[in-house]
Amino acid sequence: MESKKIILTGDRPTGKLHLGHYVGSLKRRVELQNSGEFDKIFIEIADAQALTDNFNNVDKVRNNIVEVALDYLACGIDPNKSTIFIQSQIPELCELTFYYLNLVTLSRLQRNPTIKDELKLRNFEGSIPTGFLTYPISQAADITLFDAEVIPVGDDQLPMIEQTREIVRSFNNLYKPIFREPKEMLPDNNTCMRLPGIDGKNKMSKSLGNCIYLSDEPEVIEKKIMSMYTDPNHLKVEDPGNVKDNAVFIYLDAFCKDEHFEKYLPEYKNLDELKAHYERGGLGDVKIKRFLNNIIQEELKPIRERRKELEANIDEVYKILEDGTNKAREYASKKIIEVRDAIGINYFNK
Ligand code: TRP
Repeated sequence: MESKKIILTGDRPTGKLHLGHYVGSLKRRVELQNSGEFDKIFIEIADAQALTDNFNNVDKVRNNIVEVALDYLACGIDPNKSTIFIQSQIPELCELTFYYLNLVTLSRLQRNPTIKDELKLRNFEGSIPTGFLTYPISQAADITLFDAEVIPVGDDQLPMIEQTREIVRSFNNLYKPIFREPKEMLPDNNTCMRLPGIDGKNKMSKSLGNCIYLSDEPEVIEKKIMSMYTDPNHLKVEDPGNVKDNAVFIYLDAFCKDEHFEKYLPEYKNLDELKAHYERGGLGDVKIKRFLNNIIQEELKPIRERRKELEANIDEVYKILEDGTNKAREYASKKIIEVRDAIGINYFNK
């Protein structure tokens, strides 16, 4: 079995990436990449998985591949250290998925909590496309074909990792122990795990229209921040305010450092002092929103500028995707031979 430290993670290319992706996973990936602790890092653009609920909307998926790649590179994913690849271009993934399908029952798939939620959301409950229902099995192939043991994901992906471990155990018992059980790596704090949208109610999500995108222009970011949901009972500046379910304070929890106070709001030393004042009353929403805007602008400026440079050299971005995909394919084509050997369907090997 593989002994290297290998990370694999991925995203469905169904839209540009936003602040929720950034604090929930992108920032962490870049840190892991630069830590030098891992031998290999695979980042998959999961277009085939995206097709399982967008099979009639292929353009959306195709067009967003490069958008997601731009977001990755702009955030600091370095193609010399991480391998970015496109799922559909690795046919070995389909082969492995087909063998895994034998190891999972229909009722097991129907019990997957993330799948249950998604079926409801997409009104698929009456007639479930089998491709959609079985995508957790295909995701298990994504993870195991690359011998990944560390999977940085959000908590909605825990059922997928659990399903992968079950498949690995079945396969290793039934055939030969060639796979290892992956472990999830969750964001290190709760705020980052579920950043709310600017509506303050739901998780930031493209379909709800409550996102700040990494590629948003400064004026757009400012407008979104100034319109953010705060505490509906904090009507007058003097009123005591609630910081707990207040999106502005949740964002400050995720982004604000003590240095930001020195720079943008020197009347306070740190976030605890600001929160205490808000809770006491006498601190207006506009002031905290302006402060948050300064912080987010500072964080997103270099990302947006880098993204623009990359957009001007789009051929290079496609070349990075092609090289990454070739590299991933090379790994996959070796591993799939091990798989066939383990199952005993290696008819023409010497
Ligand atoms: N299901 C993941 C999502 O919706 C994307 C994904 C596909 C993935 N394959 C993966 C994540 C493998 C981690 C590992 O975000």
